[in-house]
Amino acid sequence: MSKHALSLVLTLCLAATALAGKPRHGDKWIIGMSQCNLGEPWRVQMNADILKAARAHPELEVVFKDAQNDTLAQAAQIGEFVNAEVDLLIVSPKEAAPLTPPVAEAFRRGIPVVVLDRRVLGGDYTQFIGADNRRIGRAAGEWIARRLAALPRMKAGGRARLVELKGLMTSTPGQDRDAGFREAIKGAPVDIVFEADMKWLEPEARKEMESALAVNEQIDLVYAHNDPGAHGAYLAAKAAGREGDILFVGIDGLPQEGQAYVRQRLLAASFEYPTGGKEAVASALRILNGESVPKEVALESRVFTPDNVARGGDSL
Ligand code: FRU
Repeated sequence: MSKHALSLVLTLCLAATALAGKPRHGDKWIIGMSQCNLGEPWRVQMNADILKAARAHPELEVVFKDAQNDTLAQAAQIGEFVNAEVDLLIVSPKEAAPLTPPVAEAFRRGIPVVVLDRRVLGGDYTQFIGADNRRIGRAAGEWIARRLAALPRMKAGGRARLVELKGLMTSTPGQDRDAGFREAIKGAPVDIVFEADMKWLEPEARKEMESALAVNEQIDLVYAHNDPGAHGAYLAAKAAGREGDILFVGIDGLPQEGQAYVRQRLLAASFEYPTGGKEAVASALRILNGESVPKEVALESRVFTPDNVARGGDSL
């Protein structure tokens, strides 16, 4: 065997042992977790779910970085994890396109990457875990069309007037929650009279809803891509004394957030979007132990309404 071929074989053997064998540093596997933002309760919950699952495995250590909703900062933080030679990366990316290259680079350098909740482009990662946002959007659209059909004005042949407050449209859940929703309401007597990108943020949603209220005397329902957005819209309507005329629907369904709003009847419905934190740690363990894992893991969702929230909602 030539010198060159021998060194290639050695490199391949080393790469294989690095994956299926021992941690790169010390006696614990180091997992780098790149979180795009911790401003929303849902993301705080994701990190808590990861930490709780990891604590049950003393052989794991998770290092968290928070990009504070800044794409460039998140790209840099992924690079820092790569330079530190973590054993595995979990990434919940802010935006799809700009975070594709740093994720792909980590993957090409031999670091397994679990992409969580928001997608990157292409296939240069080990596994994607998340609920099907298109399906959730469709379920929300079907639920909304049914709920609006029960309004007296609609029974008399009227059309419903709806506001859509979208999540960041450079992130895949925003795109999918919009597309699924529009598929479902196609043909229904529903007009979207105002739409805006509130970037997943409650204060943005509140501001956009103030504009929607200013130019629309009648609004029947607000479909917001997350519960902070739905709550921001509710607060704007309340400040204008119009919250009683409008139904609010959101997505996430955290017990302490969306489900609580539904119990208080601020929201007419919230659709669950599981964080996937527990599943990401389970996958990480399998990958680190040399098992192969599927490229995609689809998480289930439920709908919470005032009628079903006490018994844990209904599956989609
Ligand atoms: C939090 C969040 C959630 C939403 C998810 C989508 O940053 O906006 O509310 O469901 O991200 O990726």
